[in-house]
Amino acid sequence: MTAAAQKPVLVIHGPNLNMLGTREPEVYGTDTLADIDASLAKLATELGWTIETFQSNGEGDLVTRIQQAASRNAGILINPGAYTHTSVAIRDAVAAVGVPTVECHLSNIHKREEFRHRSLIVGVAVGQVMGFGAQSYLLGLRALVSVLDRS
Ligand code: DQA
Repeated sequence: MTAAAQKPVLVIHGPNLNMLGTREPEVYGTDTLADIDASLAKLATELGWTIETFQSNGEGDLVTRIQQAASRNAGILINPGAYTHTSVAIRDAVAAVGVPTVECHLSNIHKREEFRHRSLIVGVAVGQVMGFGAQSYLLGLRALVSVLDRS
């Protein structure tokens, strides 16, 4: 399929990720969300894909955008932020749309506080990438696209 005929990959950033760059840089690095989105768009082009990006601090808005992906997007790359650990609603939305989804995190959630060790999302995702800072997103996009290219 040509890039023009493909639906874009949806990149979703959850709460507080709009503050990247100044937010706890020792944990999350100094790249801004705009930097990450620009790197993802460039990589997507290299891989023959396009992306759409969406950030929200609201759980309901994230659920609504995931639901829209059922008709609009070929795959989802999601960093659900703190909702990773709490949101049955986001998990259910990912399961409901059946769009291949890769979860990513800047930090290694298993090296951090115990309440971050559990992801409610990973059980409905293709897989998870974490601990590589902004590179987690790029590795996640590569993994997602490799799955989409094979389907
Ligand atoms: C995060 C990890 C979460 O525990 C945290 O709440 C975030 C960011 C990460 O990318 O490392 O907001 O998803």
